[in-house]
Parts: sequence; structure tokens; C-alpha cells
Amino acid sequence: MPRYAVFGNPVAHSRSPQIHVAFAAQREQSLSYERIEAPLDDFAGSVAAFFDAQGCGANVTVPFKEQAFALCSSVTDRARQAGAVNTLWQEGGKLHGDNTDGAGLVTDMLHNLGWPLADRRVLVLGAGGAVRGVIGALQSMAPAAITVANRTVSRAQTLAEIFEKTGAINACGFADLAGRFDLVINATSASLAGDMPPLPPGLVDAGSQCYDMMYGDEPTPFLRWASAQGAATADGLGMLVEQAAEAFMIWHGWRPVTAELIASLRN
Ligand code: ATR
Repeated sequence: MPRYAVFGNPVAHSRSPQIHVAFAAQREQSLSYERIEAPLDDFAGSVAAFFDAQGCGANVTVPFKEQAFALCSSVTDRARQAGAVNTLWQEGGKLHGDNTDGAGLVTDMLHNLGWPLADRRVLVLGAGGAVRGVIGALQSMAPAAITVANRTVSRAQTLAEIFEKTGAINACGFADLAGRFDLVINATSASLAGDMPPLPPGLVDAGSQCYDMMYGDEPTPFLRWASAQGAATADGLGMLVEQAAEAFMIWHGWRPVTAELIASLRN
């Protein structure tokens, strides 16, 4: 049976096996998809062992996406822009990498949520790897402008320097934010700690849309804050499924249907 896997540490929480097996079942395709907890000090060895043992493709999650990028012989343009790889496969004995996170986010917004991006004023909260992985895809949708706000302002400025060649982007701290935004994306890890960035009032209203790249059983503090102001909200479950669909297409050459799976995972 063709063998696939997701590498992470920790990885026990990953829903990727369930998602990829469900996609494959849409065409009665059989595959195995396992979770591999790579040692923090030997991701490269773990990946090599997997492909040596007839591994066909692998996803990569926290904290290994940057290491995966460094391991690849070739990467797609969007992975190079992200500086990170979440999808690996081999061709001619060489390791190739892509990053499907940005495409997953944009597909979820455009096709599942019906949230337009063109000409919108977009605010992205956070400036870590998660943000670097999605800015390029957001820019490709021609928003009016993207503002990246972060607790550590210098990290936001570094990201803006990387992406200023491909679209209008500016950087600031949370306290410097002013004016209204059409779309606010929370890509900080504050939600993990049950927290949210300290945002000034007036950033969103009932016409705004707020997306948290995290997902869980309960709305995150950021989404509760957004709902309280009447904004439309969504969590990152749709992005999770859509980035997986994009990886699935790279490996198998056909695009699975996602809507039903998103609904069933939510229940
Ligand atoms: P990831 O790969 O998930 O982006 P990361 O690179 O560690 O992880 O980045 C985490 C992001 O969440 C950063 O933008 C971080 O802000 P700093 O750059 O200032 O560290 C942000 N973050 C984490 N906890 C936060 C909190 N409680 N409030 C605001 N921002 C927070």
C-alpha cells in the first residue's frame, strides 16, 4: 500500500491521517498515512528513513517546516517565499518540497466562506512562520493593502521587507494600529494559551471578517472578541483541510472534494 506520513513533534494531535484517508476513499484509493514524531535533533534522519522505506510523500508540521525547506533539492516558488515546506515527495531520488498553507487559507476564504480578498484592507496579526507561509498567497489575491502587526515589531518589519517586492505591505506593533480593516487574520500563537493580542478598539465592525488560523472545540478569544463586535468569524479548520487537499493533489494528481469533510470534522 502506498505509504504517506506527517512529521511533527508533537504530532499525536494531527488530523492529517484522517483527512488524507478520507480524501483517498473518494476514489476508492487505498493508502496508509501515519504520524511520525521525529526527534527534535534528527528530523533529517527520520525523513531519510521514511523515504528509504518506500515512503511516497510526507507532510511536515511544527516545528520542522523550516528544516524541511533546507533539506529539499528543489522547492516551489511559494515554498521559497515562505521559507518553509509542509509537503515533501521524491523524484529521481531527490527530495522536492512545496508549501500549501497559503493556498489552503485563500481557498477556504474564497470558496468555503465566500470572503473576497481583492481590494480589501487586510490585517495579519503575528509575524512567525505561520504568517510567512501565507502572505504570498494573500498578496496574489490583490488586496488593497496588507498590514502585519506583531508584539515584536522588528519581526513584522523583517517580513514586510521580504514581501514588499510582491505587494503593498506595512508593519507595526499592536498599539500603532488605527482605522478599520475588512479582514483580520490571527496568526499569533496566543490562542494556544487562551489569550489574544492586545488590540485597540475600532479595528473591526459588523462588515468585517475575522479568521483565526487556530481551531478548536471552542471559539478562540480572538474570535469571541470579533463576534462581540458583530464581525463574521471563522477558525482554521477549513484551512487545515484545504492545505491537505492541495498536498493531496500534488501527490495523487486529482483534487478531492472538501466541503463534506470540513462539515464532518466540525461535528
Ligand atoms: P508560528 O510558526 O506558529 O508562527 P512562531 O514563529 O513562534 O510560531 O510565532 C508565534 C507568533 O505568535 C509570533 O508572532 C509571536 O509574537 P512575537 O514575535 O512577538 O513572539 C506571537 N505571539 C505568541 N504569543 C503571543 C501573545 N500572547 N500575544 C501576542 N502575540 C503572541
